[in-house]
Amino acid sequence: MMLSKQSDTRYIDAAPYASALIEGHRDFGYSLKTALADIIDNSISAGADRVRLVVDTISNSPSVAIADNGRGMSESELFEAMRLGSKNPTFDRLPSELGRFGLGLKSASFSQCRSLTVITRQDGITSCARWDLDLVAETNAWTLELIEDYEGELGYDLLDEIGTVVIWKKLDRLVGEIDTPGKKTEYMNAEFSLAERHLRLTFHRFLEAPKSQFQISINNRQLTPLDPMASFHPSTQKDPDDNIRLSNGHVRIRSYTIPHYKKMSQHEWDELGGPEGHLKSQGLYIYRENRLIIAGSWLGLAKQTELTKLSRIAIDIPNTMDAQWKIDVKKSSAQLPQPVRERLKRIIERFVGSSKRTYRSRGKRLVEGTMHPIWNRVQVEGRIHFKPNSEHPVFQSYSNCLPHELKEGFERCIRLLGAGLPIDALHAELVGNAESIVAMQTSESDLNQVVVDLTDALLVSNVTPDRIKDVLQNYPLLQSNWELSERLVANYLKEKGL
Ligand SMILES: Nc1ncnc2c1ncn2[C@@H]1O[C@H](COP(=O)(O)OP(=O)(O)OP(=O)(O)O)[C@@H](O)[C@H]1O
Ligand SMILES: [Mg+2]
Repeated sequence: MMLSKQSDTRYIDAAPYASALIEGHRDFGYSLKTALADIIDNSISAGADRVRLVVDTISNSPSVAIADNGRGMSESELFEAMRLGSKNPTFDRLPSELGRFGLGLKSASFSQCRSLTVITRQDGITSCARWDLDLVAETNAWTLELIEDYEGELGYDLLDEIGTVVIWKKLDRLVGEIDTPGKKTEYMNAEFSLAERHLRLTFHRFLEAPKSQFQISINNRQLTPLDPMASFHPSTQKDPDDNIRLSNGHVRIRSYTIPHYKKMSQHEWDELGGPEGHLKSQGLYIYRENRLIIAGSWLGLAKQTELTKLSRIAIDIPNTMDAQWKIDVKKSSAQLPQPVRERLKRIIERFVGSSKRTYRSRGKRLVEGTMHPIWNRVQVEGRIHFKPNSEHPVFQSYSNCLPHELKEGFERCIRLLGAGLPIDALHAELVGNAESIVAMQTSESDLNQVVVDLTDALLVSNVTPDRIKDVLQNYPLLQSNWELSERLVANYLKEKGL
């Protein structure tokens, strides 16, 4: 259709084909968890303090309803909200507003379903509208359905006196190709349990704020916050804050070292590490208006290593910096602006460097500071070797009992033990899951042998009997079995009349 003609230029209406464009909006790269978070963003921006998710994964037509008690919308606001690109991304947003592009409601929903219904109530007036992608495809027009008879709509019963309910039906993406009903439910339940963790993490600051009493529930179960900095834990270490001031706001940086796994319960440790584990959970956690947008990555500024896996840095940015940080529609990626990159690199080097040093020096002390270690750490021409210590009193006292012709064989066995240390296998295990590698339990008789030989060696080195217990208590093998070892030490000293 020609719109007008001015001198040599003709203007024609080149509006996009509705069916093609709307289908394209399904593929912004959302997953179930990021899509749900985007819908909840809208509830928070609308001032809601209660968000209820009602998920039906059992029926033949599964559905998801997300109900909030926010400020709701008038009918004309609802029509605008349903429009793709309902707000200009370059416009300023109120502080604490989580939206930017005027797309999230539609693109997040379409990523999961072909039918998006919104029922909303404001000033006692209820309005309802629906995008059905099958209808758009059929008519190839931007045909938004306005539903007058909303009382029979699924999710209507969740509508508060004021608030909004977003309903997803025709969940084609979520159930995918699976055609066995039991398997479908199983798959969807697994996806929702991943999504639950994501929501607990993404909105943890809202969920834990004591004054706001913000709540999210899934099928009537309240979600508890999941703070990736473990700031609730007494053993979490926090460095002093850093601030970077830029022309359009300031960036706050807080560095945390979460506690070592031995200082936490197994449940706390597993929950903090999540399905990917602690190695992958270290790094930067970027919050935009208190909502977590990036969880655990060094964004190219450092490597994720075993030595730094307890390091997590929280970065807070306001929504006035969206353009510089290249915030995407899903609010799940961002790029560091150059000045922030430079400063952050230095902060990370300092922070990560110090945690590496603590780790290394602890490793060194454990091995070198122990008198009579069972393994020696030896450095030769820049290479590090771990060798069994053939001078150890237990080895020595046994060797002394052997006839001369067997001594050499025994020493060879010890040397082979060192040469055969499975470094590659150990390394692979340590990188993936260091805390699951533990030394074998030592039997009482083996421990007793260590106690006897070490005590004798200490006495020979003129350590007085009253100090022997203190010295042995610092010996790692005995320390980790101290209750039993203490008894064995006492028995042996008594036996010797000391
Ligand atoms: N639950 C809700 N309660 C009240 N208003 C809402 C709700 N959900 C959406 N809206 C309105 O609809 C508009 C469009 O929402 P949509 O998520 O598509 O875009 P946005 O939030 O503005 O930006 P973004 O694309 O970054 O999410 C919102 O700006 C808001 O005015
Ligand atoms: Mg939004």
